[in-house]
Amino acid sequence: MTEAELSLEKLLFNLSTLAELGEEITSPKDFTRVVKSALYMVMGSFSSSKGAIFQFDGDRGSFEPIASKGLGDIGGVRLKIGANATGELVKYKEPLDLSSNAYPVTLLGTAREELRKLDARMLSCLTVKDELLGFIAINGKFSGEPFTQYDHQLLSVMSQHISFSLHSHSLLMKLMHKYTENKNLYDNLRRIYYDTIHAFAAAIDAKDSYTRGHSHRVSAYSAVLAREMGWNNDEVEGIRIAGLLHDIGKIAVDKTIINKASPLTSYECRELNSHPVIGYEILSKIKFPWKGIPMMTRNHHEKVDGSGYPDRLKKGDIPIGARIMALVDAFDAMTTDRPYRPRLSFKEAMDEVKDNWNKQFDPDVVYPFISVIKKEVRREVDNPTIVPLLQEQLDSVTLNRFFEGFPRA
Ligand SMILES: [Fe+2]
Repeated sequence: MTEAELSLEKLLFNLSTLAELGEEITSPKDFTRVVKSALYMVMGSFSSSKGAIFQFDGDRGSFEPIASKGLGDIGGVRLKIGANATGELVKYKEPLDLSSNAYPVTLLGTAREELRKLDARMLSCLTVKDELLGFIAINGKFSGEPFTQYDHQLLSVMSQHISFSLHSHSLLMKLMHKYTENKNLYDNLRRIYYDTIHAFAAAIDAKDSYTRGHSHRVSAYSAVLAREMGWNNDEVEGIRIAGLLHDIGKIAVDKTIINKASPLTSYECRELNSHPVIGYEILSKIKFPWKGIPMMTRNHHEKVDGSGYPDRLKKGDIPIGARIMALVDAFDAMTTDRPYRPRLSFKEAMDEVKDNWNKQFDPDVVYPFISVIKKEVRREVDNPTIVPLLQEQLDSVTLNRFFEGFPRA
């Protein structure tokens, strides 16, 4: 083979290596594998047996190996060249032959000795727009031949390919870091938000010695019922929060009125019945991420026949969330002890619901409520919510009997 033929063959080989390197670098493989393959290709092109790619860590001011071959475990190696030296190094667009004296002795600082220990012969900076990202270092050719000007050019082009990959990865990492930071911040805020709402619910329930946990039960029942009625996640979350806060207006009502065991005077009644409006006034000043919470609070004592309070709204004018809460609020009040009476049994409570069918309670809400209770009793749902909170056992046969007398849908 003539020298010209040999040169042509080498050129073709290197071109195909470059094409392969480009393909490898843009592949969606794991970054570590991409860098390792790129290093192996570079080493293969120069018949080198040892080599490594170092990435520059700007925060630590050091270079850390991200891929290596033939050097054993160098994972712990950190090369420092000094803050000013990185600015100098980036100016060297051509690969450095470490065996020559063509660059200042001080350029690599103490890293020069470390690189010597690693048998590094050629060093090529990895840069993008004068930003130093790292370098690739390889030892001499297996054949012992010197690196030619042509080799320098080839190594330089290969380094550019690797630089782009490193740059994209570094941008992605920065983005991921920012995303994680923002997500943590959002999660913390969300936790504080929920903690505050739960603290309010506890403060509301603390005023009434008989209704401990009432707000939490109304919240849980409302959410389950809304889900049964086909509400989406966001809407369910909204009514869950509304349930926790629906009685917040009671904070402004005298504790003795709330806990009074005997019938209330008309003044006391007016005071107690003012809590939905007070609650509305408090909550309408808060910008909730969910819709309708202030109105659900205001209208949770409305009745579908228009005899409720404070606005005496009729069925279609009462927000559907408030109609849900009106049912579960009354249901929980009936099935828990009160200052003026012991709790009703499930059957007695449902008889009350039946008696107030289409008067106090909306059938469009009662049917799904019955349906979800049946599903829970038959264990057709993964996480029953209402039945475990009741203070009695229910079975399917008895339940069907309860609902026999209900008007048909
Ligand atoms: Fe209430």
